[in-house]
Amino acid sequence: MKDIESREDLVILLERFYEKAMVDELIGHFFTEIAPLNLATHIPLIADFWETILFDKAQYRGNVMDVHQHLHQLSAFKAEHFARWVLLFQQTIDGLFSGEKAERAKQRGASIATVMQIKLLHPGIHKL
Ligand code: HEM
Repeated sequence: MKDIESREDLVILLERFYEKAMVDELIGHFFTEIAPLNLATHIPLIADFWETILFDKAQYRGNVMDVHQHLHQLSAFKAEHFARWVLLFQQTIDGLFSGEKAERAKQRGASIATVMQIKLLHPGIHKL
């Protein structure tokens, strides 16, 4: 299996990820009902995000925390939602790619999910 080497690889990965995520019984409704995704515009945006992370290309200019803060207000995230997101993301990568970038993508996905979860589910923690 080859590593994630290009934006085209990221698009393949993300198409497969959203195919699974959108029909997932735990988190699918976020993508289909809470904030229905238009994959034609969403995949390029998320590919920008991952290109920024994996290939040090400054493509993504959004604010990922604000977007999920807004989603959290529409329909509260729970710990199991993040766990499922991470599992699906890691399974999708493992099904398609292997190598240094594939490992980095899995690690970064998990660590961003952890930070998101702490910020959204434990907003008072910065006061500790
Ligand atoms: C419980 C887990 C998660 C769920 C259910 C979820 C769901 C969603 C949904 C529905 C959107 C579209 C929002 C909209 O267009 O209004 C979105 C956007 C996005 N998500 Fe997530 N997400 C989760 C975790 C993550 C994680 C861990 C990452 C990063 C590693 C991530 C990265 C992104 C990015 C980059 C966007 C686009 C933000 C923008 O519009 O600039 N998500 N997410």
